[in-house]
Order: sequence, then structure tokens, then C-alpha cells
Amino acid sequence: MKSETKTEAINVFLEETRNFSPPESFRKSAWVRDEKVYETARRNPEAFWASFAEELVWIRKWDRVLEWNPPDAKWFVGGKLNISVNCVDRWAKSELRNKAAIIWEGEPGEERTLTYWDLYREVNKFANALKKLGLKKGDRVTVYLPMIPEAAIAMLACARIGAVHSVVFGGFSAESLRDRINDAQARVLITADGGYRRGKIITLKREADEALKGTPSIQHVVIVKRGEFPLEIKEGRDHWWHRLIEGAESYCEPEAMDSEDMLYTLYTSGTTGKPKGIIHTTGGYLTGVYATTKWVFDLRPHDVYWCTADVGWVTGHSYIVYGPLANGATVFMYEGAPDWPEKDRFWQLIEKYGITIFYTAPTAIRAFMKWGTEWPARRNLSSLRLLGSVGEPINPEAWIWYHQNIGRGNCPVVDTWWQTETGMILITPLPGVTTLKPGSATKPFPGIEACVMNEKGQRVEVGGGYLAITKPWPAMLRGIYGDPERYQKQYWSKWPNIYFPSDGAKLDENGYFWLLGRVDDVLNVAGHRIGTMEVESALVDHPTVAEAAVVGKPHEIKGETLVAFVTLKDVGAPFGGARPSQVQGQAQGLPLQKLAQELKDHVAKKIGSIARPEDIIFSADLPKTRSGKIMRRLLKNIAEGKVLGDTTTLADSEVVNRLKQQYEEEG
Ligand code: WTA
Repeated sequence: MKSETKTEAINVFLEETRNFSPPESFRKSAWVRDEKVYETARRNPEAFWASFAEELVWIRKWDRVLEWNPPDAKWFVGGKLNISVNCVDRWAKSELRNKAAIIWEGEPGEERTLTYWDLYREVNKFANALKKLGLKKGDRVTVYLPMIPEAAIAMLACARIGAVHSVVFGGFSAESLRDRINDAQARVLITADGGYRRGKIITLKREADEALKGTPSIQHVVIVKRGEFPLEIKEGRDHWWHRLIEGAESYCEPEAMDSEDMLYTLYTSGTTGKPKGIIHTTGGYLTGVYATTKWVFDLRPHDVYWCTADVGWVTGHSYIVYGPLANGATVFMYEGAPDWPEKDRFWQLIEKYGITIFYTAPTAIRAFMKWGTEWPARRNLSSLRLLGSVGEPINPEAWIWYHQNIGRGNCPVVDTWWQTETGMILITPLPGVTTLKPGSATKPFPGIEACVMNEKGQRVEVGGGYLAITKPWPAMLRGIYGDPERYQKQYWSKWPNIYFPSDGAKLDENGYFWLLGRVDDVLNVAGHRIGTMEVESALVDHPTVAEAAVVGKPHEIKGETLVAFVTLKDVGAPFGGARPSQVQGQAQGLPLQKLAQELKDHVAKKIGSIARPEDIIFSADLPKTRSGKIMRRLLKNIAEGKVLGDTTTLADSEVVNRLKQQYEEEG
């Protein structure tokens, strides 16, 4: 009853305040106050982007803004620059020299502040240390670190000497790390002895050692000493970070990078079993993240900006490191979990550091909702002036909760749509001008052309279809590492010369975009991108598994969770056609529950705990079409408990009915 009245109240509230105009106090001093910017950018997008590039420091100015030979784009052609100079030197040598660049807090509570001058010194020293290890422009470096300032320093030091970084999220397993190192053929791995998460220690170096058993390209390992963690040091290969920089020179000449030289690769999940290394380059990427950070987050010198993402994801790259630092911002960085030691840790941090801009994911917001308003209510959050959301569609209820309970009704909420591939935010409000609708990412950023299309490539004026980006943009991916064909096929083959992001979207009568989630076999679990094929490969790798199909099931907090349908080897039909409740619950000598647990652990070990399936359903067979394709839609319907659709194309429709019945019985 109680929750019904709550929903009713929200509906009434929604009706009354469907639209939120920017508060006058915000609008007055915002970077963008006039909607004319959209028109200006539309008329001459190249001049528009160039005006942001002009605000950066170039070693040599570009000759041409854009060369577009679909699907290959080159931005600021002929220009030369160094990103670390733009993010660090520029401010370290200005009146912002003593301004905090990074304010950090560890989960156990340690505090560190690096001014721009401190950051400058650290980046230069570490860049020299990397050079001493023999690294040159173009070499790849894998970074596997907790959320500590050294993550940003390592990335910037690589950028300074022209080495290409590949950051791997610290929650990924040894095997995932190994595969990413090998794909990039990295020469150096930068890691730490460990880190903290929810009061537990994460022994990163041990995980890394496991990976390093199969990574012949790695010559050196650099280890940050985060605490007193158990580890082994391999003489000659392993080096402590602090020792390396002890003797390093305090200035390192920045490499003059071509605008199109590679800055980094970042592995992300797609529709195959193997993650792809998305390539980002230098001039266009920096221009794109610089512009969007400035306008979307409306950054001012006095702001303390906090993005809760991990540096292991693209959000950490673009909106913790490169975008904010290129704007001379003060970035707050926190190592740990939001509910440690108590469920108000985030609110306590906002109060303590006077955070003004807070950028997080809907999955976190839904967890905050569940924990209750008493946690934020205990703390003074009045320093906040802008809130952001990213990673998955935000449901209107969560949007409104966030706006009311965290923003106290005074902070615009910017729901920002983008991807690892896009490098920068593409669909978003501009907080000083856009009228907000809870649940909508609103409109394309100025200079971005997006629309909704149907299968045939016709524009949908009002209604649903596929999201499409119809013009190149500066921070767009330049390819997939080592696989140019897949780049063309994956992103540019659905419609000619138009980027296909694999997201569904709806356009309303005001031209507002409502993102509807992925339309491919990629799932979004707690804001993390997970390819169903990767999880299936991990399952099939287990000696008992013959076949597996993974689908998503809606989840109150995580958005989606993974449900795996598994058929086992040897025993063929393990239940002999009977329901599991009718058999002994044994397969290959193991009780099924125990086997399910083992399979979940197996996936966590192979990929990382973010990919651990929530449910495992053993079945005698998987529903397939006559041509042998697994019918995922049907499995999804079963997992979601929906009524079955038309099954006449099924090879054996009995299978589905059995599966459905079994699932319902198992609850
Ligand atoms: C989803 C994260 C709706 C989308 C930056 C996209 C969103 C995928 C939003 C990319 C949003 C991200 N509204 N959906 N504001 N932001 N997505 O590469 O499905 O980890 O394709 O990049 O997240 O995830 P990725």
C-alpha cells in the first residue's frame, strides 16, 4: 500500500512539473545562456569545433579541421600538440599553479591533494621513469590500478611521451587482463600492490602476477605502493614506482604528437566473445572532451567536480582525467564504495570537500533510493549546484529522486548519453538553457547531428527506432585495435556513412531523445557493458557445460542482471525430459545448486565479478530456430516471466515450454 501511494505521489508530481527550467541563479552565470549556440554550430560545425580547439595549446596549428572519408575521419589535420601540456603544464605555469588539480580520499580515509604544480612534477618525473624503461612513442602500456592519483599521473605521463595507454578496470580478472595485454602487445604494465573496496583489500599485484604468466610482450612492471599488501617481486622485471621516480629528472620534454596520433585504446564489450580495443587519438579527442566538459558541467574555477566512475571505464578517461584537467578544474577522486563504512559515505564526502558538481550512474541512484532519504538528509549538500547521470537510461522516478533529495530541487540534472566509442558526450542538456524532462537525455550537443531511424534508414520524426549519428564528431573512435574490418562492419554498415551506436531511442513531439537501451547482445549491468557472448564463452569453457545462452533480466537496482541458460555435457538431457524437481537434482555427481555456484564463480574468475550471472538455469536443450540459431528473445521472455510469443519457428517447441515451466517452478 505504502509504495502505491508513493508512486501516486510521484505521478502527480510528474504531471505538475513535467519540465524543469534552469534555475535563474544558474542560468545567469552559465557558460551557455543562449540557445543560439545550436544554430551557430549547425550552420558551420567545423568552425564551431575549431573555436574550442583554439582554446587549447598547439605546438603547430592544424591545416584543415576535418577530412572525412567515411568511415575514416581525421580532425585538425596537420596539427601538433601534447595532451599532458594541455592538462598540466598550462595550468602549472599560470596563476592556477597552486590550485588543487586532484583531491583524493582513500576508502580507509587517507587524504591527498595535488596542486597543478604537484601534478606537473609527478607527471614529468614518471614520464622520465617510463623513458628510462625504454618506452618510446607508439609503445603500449597497460594500466591496472585502483582509484588513486597515480592512475591519472600514469595516463598523463604516457601521453607526455607518446606511449599509448590501455587502462584495464581493476575489477577485471587475471585472464581478462592477460587477454588485453596480449591484444595490445603492451611492453609495460603499471599496477599497485593493492587497493581497498568495502573494507576488504584487493590484491591487484597478485592478480597481475597470474596474468603475467602468459604475457610475453611485457618487459617491465611498475608497482605503486598503496599500503602494506602481500606480494612477490620479480627482480629485473618489477619496479616500485617510488624508487623509479626518486632519481628521475623533474622535466621531460613533451612529445609533439600529431593530431591523429593514438592516445589510448580502451577495451569494451561488443557482440562477439572478444572485447575490442577502441582507438582514440589526440587533437579531436581533446577538443571534444574539453568542449563537452566545459559546457555540460559548466565548469568554473571554484568548482570541486566529482565523477564517481572508475578510471578503468571511458567515463573515467574523458570526465575524470582529460576533460576536467584540460579545463583547469579541481577534480575530486574517491577510491572506494558508497556504502563504506556507512551508506552516507558519498554525502559525507560532498559535505567535507564542498563538492559542487556530482556525476554518477542511475544504478547508484537507485541504490541510494533503496537505502533511504535519511542518509543524504543527515549531511549538508548545499554546495552542490549541478548533478549528472551517465551509463544507462535513467528512469524518471530515479531522476526525480536525485533532483529532490540530492539536488534539493535547485540543481539541474544533466543526463548524458555517450559511449566508449563516441569518446565524448553526444546527447545531453546544456544546464543553463535546456528545459529538462526527467528520463530524457534531451538533445544532441551543439555540432552533433543525431536522429532516430528505422531499419530502412528512414528518419523517424516522432516515435521509436534506432539512434543514429549522421555526422562525424571530433572525439569519435578511429578504429578497433588490430581489426579495421570490424570497425567498418560494426559501426558503419547498417546505413551508408552513418554511425550506428546499437542503442534504441524514441523522439518525442518536442524533438527530445529518450534512450531505450541496447538493441544488440550487449547488456548493461549496473552501468557496466557486458557482452553476452563473452559470458557464454566463459561458461562453455567449464568442463561440464555443453552450451550456454545468456540474456538480461530487469533488476530494480542494477538495471539488468544476467540469466544463463546452460545445457550440460555427457548427460545430454540431464533431467531426461523431466523437470528438475522430479530428478535428484544431480548432474555429473554434483548437486545442481553447487554446480550453479561453481559456474557463477567460474565466470567471475574468467572475466571479473561484474559478469557473474545472477541465475543459472539448467535445461535439457536450448530453443533454436530451424537454422540452428538460439532464440534469445524467447529466453529473455522466459527469464522475465513474460507470456511466450509465437514459437512456430522453433525446432522443438516442447523445449521452451519445459524451460518456462521449470523457471517458474524454481522461482
Ligand atoms: C548506455 C558509457 C541511456 C548506452 C559512457 C550506450 C546510456 C552504452 C546513457 C555505452 C544515457 C550510456 N542514457 N543509455 N545517459 N549513457 N548509456 O561504452 O546503451 O560503457 O550504448 O560508455 O551505455 O556504454 P559505455
